[in-house]
Amino acid sequence: MTDNPIKPLTLGSLTIENNLFQAPLAGYSSAPFRLLSWKLGRPGLLATEMISSKALVNQAPRQERYLAREDGEGPVAYQLWGADPESVGEATKIVADRGADVVDINCGCPVRKVRAAGAGSKLMEDPLLIGRIVKAMRAATEKPVTVKIRVGTSASNYNGAEVAKIVESEGADLLTVHGRHAKESYSTPCRYERIREVVEAVKTIPVIGNGDVRDGETARKMFDLTGCAGLMVGRACMGAPWVFLKIKAELVGEEMRLPGRFEIGDILLEHYDRLAVLLGEELAVRQCRKLGSFYSKTMRGAKEFRNSLNYMHTRDDLLALIEKYFKSESGGVISDTDME
Ligand SMILES: Cc1cc2nc3c(=O)[nH]c(=O)nc-3n(C[C@H](O)[C@H](O)[C@H](O)COP(=O)(O)O)c2cc1C
Repeated sequence: MTDNPIKPLTLGSLTIENNLFQAPLAGYSSAPFRLLSWKLGRPGLLATEMISSKALVNQAPRQERYLAREDGEGPVAYQLWGADPESVGEATKIVADRGADVVDINCGCPVRKVRAAGAGSKLMEDPLLIGRIVKAMRAATEKPVTVKIRVGTSASNYNGAEVAKIVESEGADLLTVHGRHAKESYSTPCRYERIREVVEAVKTIPVIGNGDVRDGETARKMFDLTGCAGLMVGRACMGAPWVFLKIKAELVGEEMRLPGRFEIGDILLEHYDRLAVLLGEELAVRQCRKLGSFYSKTMRGAKEFRNSLNYMHTRDDLLALIEKYFKSESGGVISDTDME
């Protein structure tokens, strides 16, 4: 029998039922998506989109959408971004009081606006500052505090291991490493050997491997090549909140029945309906144009559906498109499952 690397994991005071993590995804991993992931894929830990510490502390408008949770979600890591230990500490308290199960600090985001504020992947250039931020978070809550980093700042500075030791000594409970340095895009394959260096640098906290995991084979590769304690999945769960279940099944050689186009149509509609409650119809419609593309990404014949999404303005428009492309007898789109 194949050994099963999926097992419960303890981070600080919290034990989660398995070591598969849903990645924080800006513009995507709001409460509706997390609930669907939990219901359909059951990862051990869900994650919010990154949330600005300063905006939270200054009570800027429109933060509620990032803090909101759906009834029935599993444990959620609230991810903060920021570069000032004091405001990240204060923001930690705010999200912990609002029910975060875990508080995470983003040290990997390459977006210009975030780096210009000295935050995200820019922090990797100052490991001691990361240490001070973790210390402030640690002082602000007894809930698990986690850190998400990249393997380095550039090709000439793979300092992930150095950062890992610092955050471990400042009291972080878990570290996630994305296997690319701060200047690399997704076209560069994940650097498993650099993740391994980080795994080997710490002694007391679990390290989660992140990068290019999308199925049983790539999950096995991440475990085997890095020795990590768990996996985080990002892009592969967009439009496929069930992917965690697929990964779990494939790791032990089991077959899993993937949702067919009828069910995917229902999942898309549920995602939209929950977004409309959270964001209002106008914003939900805008997000749904992207969502629809993700949900049909592996389907043949979906191009016309994706084009039609640009002309969708209301829930009724969406419903009509779902009826036409996902639910009609002939079906405008074909998922792999429908072919079997
Ligand atoms: C649309 C999108 C949004 C993302 N937003 C965040 C974010 O808010 N915080 C973060 O730490 N990483 C963010 N990431 C990076 C992912 O969490 C993850 O590290 C990266 O996609 C690599 O994992 P993957 O190969 O499984 O996709 C984002 C990635 C994508 C594609």
